[in-house]
Amino acid sequence: MKEAMLLRAAVGAFGQHVRSVHTTGAVAARLKTFSIYRWNPDQPDKKPTMQEYKVDLDACAPMILDALIKIKNEIDPTLTFRRSCREGICGSCSMNIGGVNTLACISKIDTDCSKPTKIYPLPHMYVVKDLVPDMTNFYKQYTSIQPWLQRENESTKVRAQYLQSVEDRAKLDGLYECILCACCSTSCPSYWWNGTKYLGPAVLMQAYRWIIDSRDEKSAERLGRLSDSWSVYRCHTIMNCTRTCPKGLNPGRAIAEIKKLMSGLAKKEEPRLDTAALQK
Ligand code: SF4
Ligand code: SF4
Ligand code: FES
Repeated sequence: MKEAMLLRAAVGAFGQHVRSVHTTGAVAARLKTFSIYRWNPDQPDKKPTMQEYKVDLDACAPMILDALIKIKNEIDPTLTFRRSCREGICGSCSMNIGGVNTLACISKIDTDCSKPTKIYPLPHMYVVKDLVPDMTNFYKQYTSIQPWLQRENESTKVRAQYLQSVEDRAKLDGLYECILCACCSTSCPSYWWNGTKYLGPAVLMQAYRWIIDSRDEKSAERLGRLSDSWSVYRCHTIMNCTRTCPKGLNPGRAIAEIKKLMSGLAKKEEPRLDTAALQK
């Protein structure tokens, strides 16, 4: 029998859903297996398991988050994960995909259907459910660095505007873009083992962002709060953090700059950071 010819037919509103269609009318699905970590707090005696789902890539948009939403909508509504913006801005969809901490919404699906894509929650975090990590400790640590502008003698009655030179503003490039997704902190071995005492790369980079902000007048106090043997000095410059950051930032370098400031090698008035180097 003559072999059926494959035609590529575009379907879907944006043209990205292309299906393989035989002239006979049969559909050749590109089935991709996703192996996903499952744990349900309502069944505490049941150990976590990996559950497999098969998704037709020809009927799915290209990102990992698209596949997760498709699974939740069409196969298993109990699958639980965080997401909001779906464009790498909110930091909600951070998870471990194929062994890498990253954002599901900006990670393309590996279209090699011969092997499954494994998806876990961010490593070394308590799990709320399935792919949702407990961020309580992370946010507590973020709060501890007091991430807001602080001035001496600030009036609570008058709303002031604090201007900043273009050069001083440029020093914050590579720092302010952080979306607090925690991909870096949860890739850091020091944070895995000392996560309650060591602040980790994400929080330290934000600490540094406020220490060097020319409008902030509490740099000394900020550095003082970090000067113990745990908060900063558990960083051993392994640089997992910088390698994994889905926004291309360099928290490892920011930590090194804090260490320099703390050891008195740099002064606040001097340029303290090669901001170009912060952007990998
Ligand atoms: S530095 Fe990068 S990986 Fe770390 S929290 Fe910020 S955006 Fe996420
Ligand atoms: S450079 Fe420091 S913060 Fe980054 S992964 Fe290594 S030890 Fe952790
Ligand atoms: S959904 Fe917002 S960063 Fe992925």
